[in-house]
Amino acid sequence: MCPVKTTLITGGSSGIGLALARRLVADGQAVAVTGRDESRLAQVPGVLRLPGDATDHDSVRDAVEATVKEYGRLDHVVANAGFSTHGPFTETDPDRLRDMVLTNVLGPALLVKAALPALRETRGRIVLIGSVAGFRHAPGNMYSVTKWAVTALAENTRLLVTGDGVGVTLIAPGRVDTAFWPDGRPDGPLLTAGNIADAVAWALAQPEGVDVNTVVVRPTGQPA
Ligand SMILES: NC(=O)c1ccc[n+]([C@@H]2O[C@H](COP(=O)([O-])OP(=O)(O)OC[C@H]3O[C@@H](n4cnc5c(N)ncnc54)[C@H](OP(=O)(O)O)[C@@H]3O)[C@@H](O)[C@H]2O)c1
Repeated sequence: MCPVKTTLITGGSSGIGLALARRLVADGQAVAVTGRDESRLAQVPGVLRLPGDATDHDSVRDAVEATVKEYGRLDHVVANAGFSTHGPFTETDPDRLRDMVLTNVLGPALLVKAALPALRETRGRIVLIGSVAGFRHAPGNMYSVTKWAVTALAENTRLLVTGDGVGVTLIAPGRVDTAFWPDGRPDGPLLTAGNIADAVAWALAQPEGVDVNTVVVRPTGQPA
């Protein structure tokens, strides 16, 4: 019998991460999720809940270790935790900019660093949640800068692990209806978090020897 696949998701208490956790649990996978707000994390059913900050090296390392200790293996990591300051960087509090750069760029790199030894053992997969903003430019958009960095991190990581049998997938969503938008739903067409969860689950479910690298998912009709 195949062992149950095990997935660690950063930022699994809301939006895309939560939808993915639910989807993988429904598929029979073992799932661990991180997040800073313990009360929100406590409401995620059927998972190993690991309070922690994706920008903190020790916290990320501990989350990987706790997942392997609980489930005996690690097959997939999904670097999902992230946010946008929205608006031009010239008009944004520098501390918020720092938090965003650390969360969106350093966070995924720390997860890859911490998880790689365990993923080499399972010949597992890494998914990075980027963005359409990581392929396009916009005036003064620092969030876009961080997601361009995630686009680069995905390919740089793929090149790093070519000899390890580890897959690397960048999932780049267009606009998704989540708490990412602090002022409520933006105008225009939106995806659901479940749509992106389905795309991630598809990438994770590829047969051995198949590595899906870049998937851009927009709602039909998104203009940019
Ligand atoms: N929604 C969109 O339109 C859209 C489009 C393209 C890409 N994305 C990307 O999709 C990813 C998920 O966003 P979402 O739309 O699902 O937003 P969301 O509903 O706000 O969820 C963000 C999740 O990340 C967690 N998080 C944030 N900072 C963290 C940190 N430092 N350490 C650990 N967890 C952290 C949050 O929990 P805590 O706050 O409790 O830590 C929450 O669980 C992000 O990388 C975002 O950039 C979103």
